[in-house]
Amino acid sequence: MNQMMGCPNNRMRVIMLGDYGVGKTCLMNRYLFDQFDLYYRKFYVEFGNRTVDVFGVKVKLQIWDTFDQERLGWELFTAITKSYYRDVAGIVMVFDLTKKSSFDNIQYWLQQVHEHAGENVDIVLVGNKVDLAESRAIDHETASSLAQTIGAMYVECSAKTGANVNLVFTSLASKLVNRVPVQQEEPVRLQSGTLDEVPCYGKDTCSLF
Ligand code: GTP
Repeated sequence: MNQMMGCPNNRMRVIMLGDYGVGKTCLMNRYLFDQFDLYYRKFYVEFGNRTVDVFGVKVKLQIWDTFDQERLGWELFTAITKSYYRDVAGIVMVFDLTKKSSFDNIQYWLQQVHEHAGENVDIVLVGNKVDLAESRAIDHETASSLAQTIGAMYVECSAKTGANVNLVFTSLASKLVNRVPVQQEEPVRLQSGTLDEVPCYGKDTCSLF
């Protein structure tokens, strides 16, 4: 069945997960604005929209990013976790190819997904900072093997150079819409705020499952 059925405005909620400093915000900025050094005040939670065309089906990816537990503090992190994972359709799970601990911690993030997001989410595992080839700590085989084990796609990219960044999101969109290739795309805007301030839930919620 086409997963877009019953999804108002064809909106799909995608969240960025991964350790502090792996490049989640840079990836999002690269994808939304094609910029790396973009500075903006980072709120606790932010999201941006970008519409892609998947075989004639317009899909609005609503991409969410948040501070990690360390920067948010335990209390705030716990408070927003439930809302952050609510109604999520896709997850961009990022580690830093030059930092082994961020790859090891993917297990922690998978556990979080298991606890808070349920089973019916698509995941793309992302090895970021592929431009730092000389400092690489995780090889392609190890990471793609993990991706295979957890049923995720695997993409190596660089938010800095832009290499493969579009592929991260378009491959996820394709998987979300019956695993078909994406044909065209157009950028939209970034918004900031708390989870309570943005009109993400209620009648307009994208509920795929
Ligand atoms: P938190 O929001 O604090 O959890 O971190 P984050 O995962 O959002 O990381 P962020 O995007 O803030 O990037 C962390 C650092 O990595 C910054 O200094 C970026 O400039 C750098 N960085 C991000 N992506 C890349 C990349 O592809 N290549 C290189 N060389 N550096 C990158």
